[in-house]
Amino acid sequence: MSTKVAIVTGSNKGIGLAIVRRMCKEFSGDVILTARDKSRGRTAVTLLEGEGLQPKFHQLDIDSRDSIATLKEFIEKSYGGLDVLINNAGIAYKRASTVPFIEQATNTLKTNFTSTMNVTRALLPVMKPNSRVVMVSSDLGKLKIVKPHLQDQFSSPSLTEPQLVSLMDQFVQDVAAGNHEAKGWPTTAYGVSKLGRIALTKIIAREMIASGKTDILVNACCPGWCRTDMAGDNAPLSAEQGAETPVHLALLPAGSPTGEFWIKKEVVSW
Ligand SMILES: NC(=O)c1ccc[n+]([C@@H]2O[C@H](COP(=O)([O-])OP(=O)(O)OC[C@H]3O[C@@H](n4cnc5c(N)ncnc54)[C@H](OP(=O)(O)O)[C@@H]3O)[C@@H](O)[C@H]2O)c1
Repeated sequence: MSTKVAIVTGSNKGIGLAIVRRMCKEFSGDVILTARDKSRGRTAVTLLEGEGLQPKFHQLDIDSRDSIATLKEFIEKSYGGLDVLINNAGIAYKRASTVPFIEQATNTLKTNFTSTMNVTRALLPVMKPNSRVVMVSSDLGKLKIVKPHLQDQFSSPSLTEPQLVSLMDQFVQDVAAGNHEAKGWPTTAYGVSKLGRIALTKIIAREMIASGKTDILVNACCPGWCRTDMAGDNAPLSAEQGAETPVHLALLPAGSPTGEFWIKKEVVSW
């Protein structure tokens, strides 16, 4: 039987690094630590090797289609397919950021939503039977952050990916027009990007079921508020604690729920 393989995006630090550490201990196969910057990635691999673990490394900038394609080719050639994809990479502007909100909205949705969708779409065709896709989202991406008419659209069981992409584009356009709050959006690009990740999770899970690939489970989660470069030092949880739910979803046994949003290893309402 071929070696199993798991990929964790954005795993040179923070929760992603903690996910790789835990997967190295709990997943029976190769775990690929990925980073957009090779040097930061290799430093992280060396750190884990110092702990007696043996992650592999591959470069991945989720914002680059070429980088995604190179990783896909490597996975196909070396492993014949993928067993676990954990979409962890993400960005967030600090609350005190003076970057204009339209720029924050554009960049945040690009990486946290569009690029994450691109990685997933590129790798879905090579997901092996009984594989798992995990979207690291946030409870800041709960439906309640948008007004009811948008909640209805995002949570519609017939929402398609093109419709979801249009909704996300609409947010950026409304921000540019200066009327996003009047249109029912919050002033958090991060929250909207994470809302989009959860909606995408549900769309892909439905697609797997409709195409008879019911053994491929696709779930989203919030890791909890963790002490990382993104969230700062005041968060109550360590990055290691933040890794618990994503790893739980990566290792879900057959027959577990799919298309759900999880917090603390339990399905919660979105
Ligand atoms: N920390 C929390 O409290 C918290 C709560 C809820 C959800 N989350 C989510 O958990 C995930 C990890 O967050 P974290 O706190 O560990 O953040 P972090 O410490 O800032 O780490 C983010 C990781 O994503 C990588 N990344 C960013 N853009 C990328 C790109 N274009 N391509 C590849 N990698 C990229 C970063 O790489 P570089 O080092 O190169 O920048 C870094 O490795 C994120 O999706 C975040 O939204 C975090």
